[in-house]
Amino acid sequence: MEKVEAFVEEYLKVFSNPCDVDFTWYNMIRAELLRKTVQQAEGVLDVGCGRGEVLLMLSKQIGWGVGVDISEDDIVTAENTRKKQGIKNVEFRHANALDLPFALSTFDVVLCLGDVFGYFNLNEQHDRVLSEIKRVLKNDGLTVYEGMNWAWEYKVSPYWTCFSRTDDGSFCFGRNKRTASGRETSRTYEVVPETPLHEWILQQDWPVSPQGYNTTLDVVEKKPIPERWLKFQGANSGQYYTSHALKRKYKNNGFRNVKVCAYGQTYDIVNKAGLLETVGQWKPELAKAEAEMIFKLRMGSGPWIFLVARG
Ligand SMILES: C[S@@+](CC[C@H](N)C(=O)[O-])C[C@H]1O[C@@H](n2cnc3c(N)ncnc32)[C@H](O)[C@@H]1O
Repeated sequence: MEKVEAFVEEYLKVFSNPCDVDFTWYNMIRAELLRKTVQQAEGVLDVGCGRGEVLLMLSKQIGWGVGVDISEDDIVTAENTRKKQGIKNVEFRHANALDLPFALSTFDVVLCLGDVFGYFNLNEQHDRVLSEIKRVLKNDGLTVYEGMNWAWEYKVSPYWTCFSRTDDGSFCFGRNKRTASGRETSRTYEVVPETPLHEWILQQDWPVSPQGYNTTLDVVEKKPIPERWLKFQGANSGQYYTSHALKRKYKNNGFRNVKVCAYGQTYDIVNKAGLLETVGQWKPELAKAEAEMIFKLRMGSGPWIFLVARG
């Protein structure tokens, strides 16, 4: 028994836990960019709205808005939050981005934010989503995309391993491999209950995004995890885009004036320089400054892509 415990202790030293990644920073910059981009628009659609935070945030400055999502649970949560906040010019509906339940030229602005394209059920169907967005957007209306910057992700971590939680309380482990062309392949395993690995996971602090979505626990697997602690569940793959490829995709789908920038670099530089605690008190000001700088939509080099185009 002592031998096992010693092994576990030694083994677990190889994990690093970057729980200090600060999603709040990205969120502040995104909120600033969105407020300024959307301005006083009349009708706004949010495709893949999740729990509705963005539309609720924008509700004071827009005429009316609809948020749609494939997750019925998220729509219920969004509706409950809307009611609690007493917001009347926004509604949330269950719908699929592949088949938007709206007539031609209904909206002045269509948003598609938070890496909706990264969902496996949309893989290979991104052109279909874009043609749906184009159809429901008024002529010359504005569309906004926000998601992962592939060039950044690939450069920073071509291999990525993480734990995630499922709704039934069990844990999964994912081994993800990325290629420069934007293909990500994931092999998923269930963590076998009552193993030392399972015990270890239960003791960890998990990073939580302001929206509560990013609940993966990233780790570095320097030695392969013993097979008896994991049960293979299956493999999957997804397509991501560099900023240039995304721009091309929008153009090929008939969008005009496509402008794209990457953001989040200020946070990364500050974090890497170990200055987060020192400058932390000025976070809102720094986030605003970054948003103002990139609002002109110059190409940046940060971990997130922000794209605007006309229909
Ligand atoms: C990471 S969340 C982003 C939520 C929100 N847009 C934000 O940025 O805070 C991605 C959302 O896309 C939704 N989604 C995935 N596939 C979809 C589909 N086919 N139709 C509509 N929504 C979809 C998911 O349910 C999830 O709520």
